Amino acid sequence: MFEQLNKITEKPDIYSCYTAEALWNDPYISKQMLKNHLNPSVDIASRKSDFIDASVNFIHNRFNLGEGKAVIDFGCGPGLYTTCLAQLGCKVRGLDFSKNSIDYARTELERLGLDIEYLNLNYLDYQAQETFDLVTMIYCDYCVLSDDQRKTLLKIMKNSMKYNGHIFMDVCSNRMYENIEEGTAFELIVKDGFWSAQRHYVFKSTFKYDINRVSLEKYTIFENDRNIEILNWLKYFTINELSNEFEENGMEILEVYSDVRGTPYDITSDIIAVVLGRKDTSY
Ligand SMILES: C[S@@+](CC[C@H](N)C(=O)[O-])C[C@H]1O[C@@H](n2cnc3c(N)ncnc32)[C@H](O)[C@@H]1O
Repeated sequence: MFEQLNKITEKPDIYSCYTAEALWNDPYISKQMLKNHLNPSVDIASRKSDFIDASVNFIHNRFNLGEGKAVIDFGCGPGLYTTCLAQLGCKVRGLDFSKNSIDYARTELERLGLDIEYLNLNYLDYQAQETFDLVTMIYCDYCVLSDDQRKTLLKIMKNSMKYNGHIFMDVCSNRMYENIEEGTAFELIVKDGFWSAQRHYVFKSTFKYDINRVSLEKYTIFENDRNIEILNWLKYFTINELSNEFEENGMEILEVYSDVRGTPYDITSDIIAVVLGRKDTSY
């Protein structure tokens, strides 16, 4: 028991394991995720519906979207943004590896008769062939990736962008990192929990990696007949760090906001939203 508790609470090496696929595609957990996406009054999986409406409004005006414009959304979930963008007249493509979310998004697309193509895949494996006016990634999904994965993703996003196109995304700021505390919590859930329908035990350990400004929420879930380990990594950025990372990949920050609703940037914000353009447009 003591050895097992040591293992559960052990701090892993940074980015030692990528468990996002299990988090978003486990048959039970992905159903709970979809419920959260579709709940208009919680900020879990997707943000609240009034926030999404305000951000679609900002994106519409800032990028002059409408007929003749094409948008690709990385990590589109059940299509809360893609649906609205298609309703503005844009041609839209959504990428997500959650089968459950993409199935829901496809049902909605048929019901509403919209011009959206959904691809159920890992966006790190996406082969960009067409280019889009706008590339989006919303709700800080960029931050869950390792340094190498972000590099791969930026290359894919850049290849998905028209020559004068833009990328719009949000990330967690270093301010948010300062408020995170390390520790371990334990919970017994008798039934119908987020992780399992049966009786189960959850250990949640939070770790910080100060040199990299990365946090980890490590969940170890014990059911009667299986154990699951989920590692949720999160990288927190300063604007300088973001700027260097984008410049190394041939892009530059054109605008900075405090969120994807276009709220003016404030240094105390937990979120940094950026509009990126190609650095080499003059060549
Ligand atoms: C926090 S949710 C945000 C969903 C959506 N952008 C929104 O704001 O409503 C992150 C989404 O990214 C998807 N995702 C995470 N990693 C992915 C990957 N490597 N490839 C494809 N989809 C991924 C998840 O399935 C999930 O739907």
